[in-house]
Amino acid sequence: MAKSNLQTVLVLSGPNLNLLGQRQPEIYGTDSLQDHMRRVGETAAQLGLQIETVSAQGVAEIVEAIHSARGRCAAIIINPGALTHFAWSLHDALASFAGPIVEVHLSNPATRESWRHESVVAPVASGSIAGFGADSYVFAVHAVATLLAKKK
Ligand code: DQA
Repeated sequence: MAKSNLQTVLVLSGPNLNLLGQRQPEIYGTDSLQDHMRRVGETAAQLGLQIETVSAQGVAEIVEAIHSARGRCAAIIINPGALTHFAWSLHDALASFAGPIVEVHLSNPATRESWRHESVVAPVASGSIAGFGADSYVFAVHAVATLLAKKK
């Protein structure tokens, strides 16, 4: 099969995001993770990018996905779920990735419980998008496309 020339963006989802649509819909909305990923894929295609998605419940699986993206994927969009707030091995894995990294949250952790105020991902991300519900993901794809275009 011919190799695609499209740049690939890895879209990572951390623990419990597989339950989007069922889990605390008053906070996270009623769309499923599949609904979000479909919109991400459509937006990416419009911007000349392709996506690869990984949904993982554990930090090891996410760290391995980041390792496998090194030198292969152009950028990473990541919603690490609660790992955002304490998983320093995730921070270190992302620090090993050369391309743009956009941290995404559906809710705005800064307005929630104090333990959600720290992000171990933010210091190694190009930027963070939080609090826009389903639009957070779409904005993240636009951010990645802008960052990649600037690199060219
Ligand atoms: C979240 C925010 C986190 O604090 C939380 O643990 C999640 C979802 C968000 O998308 O708003 O699982 O990352």
